[in-house]
Amino acid sequence: MIRSAVRGTGAALPRRIMKNADFEGMVETSDEWIAQRTGIRQRHIAADDETTASLGEAAARVALADAGLTPDDIDLIVLATSTPNNTFPATAVEIQNRLGMQHGFAFDMQAVCSGFVYAVTTADLYIRGGLAKRVLVIGSETFSRILDWSDRSTCVLFGDGAGAVVLEAGEGAGTIADRGVLAASLRSDGAHKEKLFVDGGPSTTGTVGHLRMEGREVFKHAVGMITDVIETTFSAAGITADDLDWFVPHQANKRIIDASAKKLGIAEQKVVVTVDLHGNTSAASVPLALSVAVADGRIKKGDLVLLEAMGGGFTWGAVLVRW
Ligand code: UT7
Repeated sequence: MIRSAVRGTGAALPRRIMKNADFEGMVETSDEWIAQRTGIRQRHIAADDETTASLGEAAARVALADAGLTPDDIDLIVLATSTPNNTFPATAVEIQNRLGMQHGFAFDMQAVCSGFVYAVTTADLYIRGGLAKRVLVIGSETFSRILDWSDRSTCVLFGDGAGAVVLEAGEGAGTIADRGVLAASLRSDGAHKEKLFVDGGPSTTGTVGHLRMEGREVFKHAVGMITDVIETTFSAAGITADDLDWFVPHQANKRIIDASAKKLGIAEQKVVVTVDLHGNTSAASVPLALSVAVADGRIKKGDLVLLEAMGGGFTWGAVLVRW
């Protein structure tokens, strides 16, 4: 059977780093509060010339170089983002143009923080359906542009950045020993819209709007939703937490990551944590964490890797990949 295997990874971060202490003169907060409640110590913030498209392009180029490929080898670009350069066209198409691609197709995927997990699952289906052989899956965000910088309950949490993987069609035996995407579980429930949303949009206010979040309410639902899709993914693949080599969760809050890993029985040393370095970069957080753990030699070919995310919508999901 056809499997979608990871051939390359890449990341790109804005030049400017903003430390927790940098907020202390802006809103009533402290490095101590932010670090203790979230695990965040710093985040990258995009300059005017750094956009979702430019960061996505940069991450894509690193992933292509890592894969030993060029844009000519790519059939499809799926970009997970909630902060597109324009309302339309899709920022994925802009990245396609920036890469000099005059073939293939590209589209954006909007599932907020779960965007990358949705995008990997979608790309896998395009590959297994025979519509594409090699897909660039990118998560790129500039959440700094939609933050209310006077709201301490949200502005300290988010950051900008991009990560990418190249997925490639390969032959598998149909067992969990195959390299590639092995199982996935996606969910959404629009009843929770008010807990995490942007208060503007083309069809309502005609403005871009600002991010609004009832953090405590999101927190209350997060662990249960995350563990639910992971358990579904485990049973679809016929594995347990002990079989995993690496758990790469969405990086929103260290306390959510720790509580989810504990509930699932995933050992602490298998959990990849980058929230301290990047803050919450929404759809970019999982591919950014992946590229850190691949670059430092933790994630190696043949490892069993579980990706997970939960965010606005609510949306949530998990994907199991043999690296
Ligand atoms: O990526 C999408 C998914 N998003 C998430 O997963 C985020 C989920 N939520 C969270 O991570 C946490 O709920 C937060 C980090 C947002 C907040 O942590 P918390 O432990 O749930 O704190 P809280 O909202 O219950 O607030 C505790 C106190 C409040 O003061 P009072 O009402 O107890 O007097 C807040 O006003 O902390 C206050 N507070 C702050 N204090 C200093 C809120 N933000 C800040 C701040 N600095 N930046």
